[in-house]
Amino acid sequence: MRVYLETFGCQMNELDSELVRGQLQSLGHEFVPHPDDAEVVLFNTCSVREHAEQKVYSRLGLAGVRKKQGEQLIVGVIGCMAERDGVDLFKRYPQVDLMCGPGELDRLPLLIDNAARAEAADRSERVALAGNKSRRSATLEAAEDNLEMLDLSRAFEPVANDARSRSAYVRITRGCNKFCTYCVVPHTRGAEVHRPPSHVVDECKRLVDAGVIEITLLGQTINHYRYAHGMALTVDGNEAPQVGPGLAAFRKPVAPGVRTTTFADLLHRIHEEVPALQRLRFVTSYPRDFGNDILEVMRDSPRICQYLHAPAQSGSDRMLKAMNRGYTVSEYLDFVDRVTTTLPDCTIGGDIIVGFCGETDEDFEQTCELVQRVPFKNNFIFKYSPRPGTVAFDRLTDDVPDEVKRARNNTLLALQSRVSARVHEQWVGRTVPVFLEDLRERSAPASTANGRVALSVAGMSTSETNSTFRQIIGRSPGDLIVAMPAPENAVELLGTVRSARIVGSRPLLLDGLLA
Ligand code: 5AD
Ligand code: SF4
Repeated sequence: MRVYLETFGCQMNELDSELVRGQLQSLGHEFVPHPDDAEVVLFNTCSVREHAEQKVYSRLGLAGVRKKQGEQLIVGVIGCMAERDGVDLFKRYPQVDLMCGPGELDRLPLLIDNAARAEAADRSERVALAGNKSRRSATLEAAEDNLEMLDLSRAFEPVANDARSRSAYVRITRGCNKFCTYCVVPHTRGAEVHRPPSHVVDECKRLVDAGVIEITLLGQTINHYRYAHGMALTVDGNEAPQVGPGLAAFRKPVAPGVRTTTFADLLHRIHEEVPALQRLRFVTSYPRDFGNDILEVMRDSPRICQYLHAPAQSGSDRMLKAMNRGYTVSEYLDFVDRVTTTLPDCTIGGDIIVGFCGETDEDFEQTCELVQRVPFKNNFIFKYSPRPGTVAFDRLTDDVPDEVKRARNNTLLALQSRVSARVHEQWVGRTVPVFLEDLRERSAPASTANGRVALSVAGMSTSETNSTFRQIIGRSPGDLIVAMPAPENAVELLGTVRSARIVGSRPLLLDGLLA
């Protein structure tokens, strides 16, 4: 069948979509770039904020119109919204034919088949959700194995000069156990499950053999990765995914006699066992229990990018407590100190929620102080969005008016922009490796003095006709964006790592020259 797949939300979803695409293609389905040409329309959805869900509801509205006009169309909601809304969604949106939660994606082909013979198939045969199904009651090994197969069977064919296909995600942990009070992820993606290190390393090797040069490891709280060997085996004796240990596990040394792979061990293994991998990165770091062992591996492994995405969420201890984040501001600052001491070049990015339940002007002021104090290269700033099913939704009051949330959001964006500018400035004059990933036409010469110098020095290359010129965009190991005049052969350079001299800076990017 002809399938259109649209992805909303996070990097986990992007990876899930890639796996779904590979799985359906291997079964003979064909992907089309426009929903109007599709017989099956799939939305891989995100529930983290209400806004993300609204977008999907409007897509479902459009699909409903097509069906009302008599088109034969299968509409599927997959990912976190399916899991969160459950079968209620069928009632509110009868145009939806199938639903599949993020922990059940291996069953999607079956659901599509069932929906294709919809008259015959009972609605229950078109739903696969962890919450309402027996699967999770089976042993973890049995339940997870098929899902694990989805990751393991991934087909990968990098395309020459396509940077996106030279950079890949590899999941090391599914789900989350932290239950931050505002967050829907533990409810939609379920309990933390860690993949066996050998599976992760093998997947990295296969991707690199296929031409990938950059891998980003994914986990909701990636530094909490910990795999105890010999505990979970499949029937044929192979290691299986395993439920993550509780937080207490990070307060005491590894139990004697249990061979354990920690996150630091895993990073080291990938770095050593996949030498052709040029860049190894990871997201998302949890500011609690981020051991020096990880920082030391990062320091001693030149191909591991010195970049941490470590969301602080707030600069107020009162708010952090209400959020159940499990650390104080001073512990966050201690983490930042340890990072900058061991890795002076490491960049730090984060997420912040403004207007969480009960946030006062004083709490917000403390968040501003934190942002001023930590050299954040960027922060994604979100207005608190109450999510049904979370503790905050049930027990706390969303009492900060929307206009106050908006004002705090804007204040913090302006502040972050100044902090980002300061961080970016420090890179001027240095030479950094850049992963070249995009070309863009600019309609006017670069606005900063340095940018103009860069253009005239580079001379050769800017195709500066009628005030448009081409830039090639790269990313430094610290995830800083570098814009450079594009040489003639720019297209051939996409998807490779080159050196760039940094000649100017702006709040959101660096101006550079390819060395
Ligand atoms: N409202 C606003 N932002 C949220 N996030 C998670 N849940 C919510 C919510 N209910 C933000 C957090 C998290 C990022 C992925 O999304 O900052 O780090
Ligand atoms: Fe959500 Fe907190 Fe888990 Fe992150 S650590 S996914 S914010 S519950």
